Amino acid sequence: MSEFRVKAISNLHAEFSVPGDKSMSHRAAILGGLSNGTCTIRNFLPSEDCINTLNAMRALGATYEILDSLEGYGPVNLRIHGQSMRLSQAAAPIDCGNAGTGMRLLAGLLAGQTFSTELFGDASLSSRPMGRVTIPLGQMGATIETRGEKPGCAPLFIHAAKLQAITYEMPMASAQVKSAVLLAGMFAEGKTTVIQPAETRDHTERMLASFHVSTRHEGNAISIYGGQIPQSCDFTVPGDISSAAFWLVAAAALPGSRLLIKDVGLNPTRTAILKVLSRMGAHMSEIVHHSAGEPIGNIEIHGAALKGTTILIEEVPNLIDEIPVIAVAAALAQGRTIIRNAKELRVKETDRITTVVEGLRAMGAHVDEFEDGMEIEGGQPLHGATIDSCGDHRIAMAFAIAGLFAKGETVIKNTECVNTSYPGFSHHLNAIRHERSSPADFTLPTTAHA
Ligand code: S3P
Repeated sequence: MSEFRVKAISNLHAEFSVPGDKSMSHRAAILGGLSNGTCTIRNFLPSEDCINTLNAMRALGATYEILDSLEGYGPVNLRIHGQSMRLSQAAAPIDCGNAGTGMRLLAGLLAGQTFSTELFGDASLSSRPMGRVTIPLGQMGATIETRGEKPGCAPLFIHAAKLQAITYEMPMASAQVKSAVLLAGMFAEGKTTVIQPAETRDHTERMLASFHVSTRHEGNAISIYGGQIPQSCDFTVPGDISSAAFWLVAAAALPGSRLLIKDVGLNPTRTAILKVLSRMGAHMSEIVHHSAGEPIGNIEIHGAALKGTTILIEEVPNLIDEIPVIAVAAALAQGRTIIRNAKELRVKETDRITTVVEGLRAMGAHVDEFEDGMEIEGGQPLHGATIDSCGDHRIAMAFAIAGLFAKGETVIKNTECVNTSYPGFSHHLNAIRHERSSPADFTLPTTAHA
């Protein structure tokens, strides 16, 4: 079992880019595989989650070739051969690993096929709620059995079905649910509409547009007509702002630091983390340098003495994945930080309210736990502790950042899970830990394939 050992740093000056965006990599694999030709995808995230989705599409007929790979992980540049919306039955059950996004999007994709498919995942994924996708897909005519030990959980047995279009009002603000229904809608007759209670990340809609599949947007309602064939295109995945968030917090909380994160996704449905860190006192600028489909740019941040803040209700879906590391920033800030209306955290890879609260308390922070969030009284000095990630990648990485500010050594146990979203995290952590600043120290090695 691997672990991180982290001690306090006194200096952070660095410029680097983080691996590709996880949400977009899942979607690029799926839409590339549905398209009517060959698509070159660059800067794909070679994480276990996204490779599982890529291999799921291969099992359904959309093969791919690797052009370049990140050493020790997998493809970063690849060519995928789309099947013009005609997938074929997988020879075996499909493994989604740890990925809620992979399983829920694939469930939408597979609900309206002429063949049956079984989707399964690891222990964490097998305990996460799937009713949020099987209910709307069932209303469209899908037959999906949840055969997990826990009711409503994976494995999913998705039977062949003919779908009809529906209008579905989502009970929770979830981009995964929205995307599952839109993907199913591509195989249904007529107009499928999803209404979201609050804005969620819009990568599916943007990527559909890149593949010339039209969607219609009226307020928080998104509609799609079935029968459209995605037109093959090439797609470059920007860096993942959710991965950048760990270093942004480290730099924000260290007065005198300077960090430049390059070529990162700046989609406004994902950038609330920047607003929150600015409110807490960090000095920040973002420069968009490319904006076809998805805005890409650089973020420069200078550290400061941080102060507490209140996360606004409408910000929660935008920064849901960043909350563990925002909680770390809050512990390092003076004053109170309030994170409420975030009950969704309890159904992530772990119950992230409990894992964050317990981890911060173990390091000396003052935290109150609520059913829907937490309140942190910042400014207590943190001390090293042993923290179990419980197999949750964002918990492992958030507490590695906390360790950079704690007295003594912090040991994070069970850190293999970071490979589900951030291959190369430990390489970047080592460079930061040893207070290195040359861009070469952050470069992740890639290999070209013939
Ligand atoms: C994601 C949506 C979010 C997020 C997850 C990725 C996506 O989940 O937490 O990491 O790619 O659609 P929910 O849809 O459950 O909010």
